[in-house]
Amino acid sequence: MAKHFLSIEDFTTDDINSVFERAKVLKKNKIQNTLKDKVLALIFEKASTRTRVSFEVGIRQLGGSSIFISPKDSQLSRGEEIKDTARVISRYVDIVAIRTFEQEKVEEFARFSNISVINALTDLRHPCQILTDIFTIIEVLGDIRGKTVAFIGDGNNMMNSWITALLRLDFNLICAFPENFSPDMDIVEKVRLEGKGKLFLTNNPQEAVKDAEVINTDVWASMGQEEEHSKRLKIFAKYQINEKLLEKSSKKPFVLHCLPAHKGEEITETVFEKNSKFIFLQAENRLHVQKAIMENLLLI
Ligand code: CP
Ligand code: NVA
Repeated sequence: MAKHFLSIEDFTTDDINSVFERAKVLKKNKIQNTLKDKVLALIFEKASTRTRVSFEVGIRQLGGSSIFISPKDSQLSRGEEIKDTARVISRYVDIVAIRTFEQEKVEEFARFSNISVINALTDLRHPCQILTDIFTIIEVLGDIRGKTVAFIGDGNNMMNSWITALLRLDFNLICAFPENFSPDMDIVEKVRLEGKGKLFLTNNPQEAVKDAEVINTDVWASMGQEEEHSKRLKIFAKYQINEKLLEKSSKKPFVLHCLPAHKGEEITETVFEKNSKFIFLQAENRLHVQKAIMENLLLI
């Protein structure tokens, strides 16, 4: 049976550590032939800059190639079922990355295909991004174990995947979000029962940054929530990452952002620029980490 990466949970702690080790090597030696002639299909129902380009470049650097499939040019937009699409595409290509709305869709695709499927973002999860964020933190701080990470903003795919990472890695995570914008409570409950690291939830952003060594944020209205944008601007105003909020931290934290950023909303231009070396390192690392993820799925 093919191995998938639909959630961070799909990888063991050993998988994650070996992905990080391999990503370090791939960062130094970009061109390899480990996935020679392998074909990656990207099925993207939402916009993307980083994920699409880093996957397409990544598979080429490993000796393979890619095909981008937008639903509007395929029979998906005319109602062909996911399970039929999966059974067809998986006879042509070796691996698929899917960006869509419902997590159930990537899961259904994986169930009906005999090749590996990667979650390239759903409304519920963004596992490739969070593995990259952790890899970046390890690069900057030397380790994630025992460190305190804050995520401030919406209880969205990013926050959910950060929480999921506690099932596999031992660190402290403090999430701050407005009331009624909490992360997925099934994920929270699972982490509370089985997590290796510690999770704290709060509605108070000052409390969240207090002991944080790293602060993460993301847009307040994710793809698909555009019509709620102006309503969310008011609700999330006190969750902005600005200099005043950072003064509440005792640890001189650095700030990460998965991008794209809405400067002046979830992060000020000043804080963004002061942390740009970390934020663009994080963006670059998508390439190295995802290459290691593809190798893990196809070779191990
Ligand atoms: N961070 C991220 O996934 O970026 P894209 O939406 O540009 O792929
Ligand atoms: N939460 C954002 C992440 C973008 C990379 C979204 O889903 O739009």
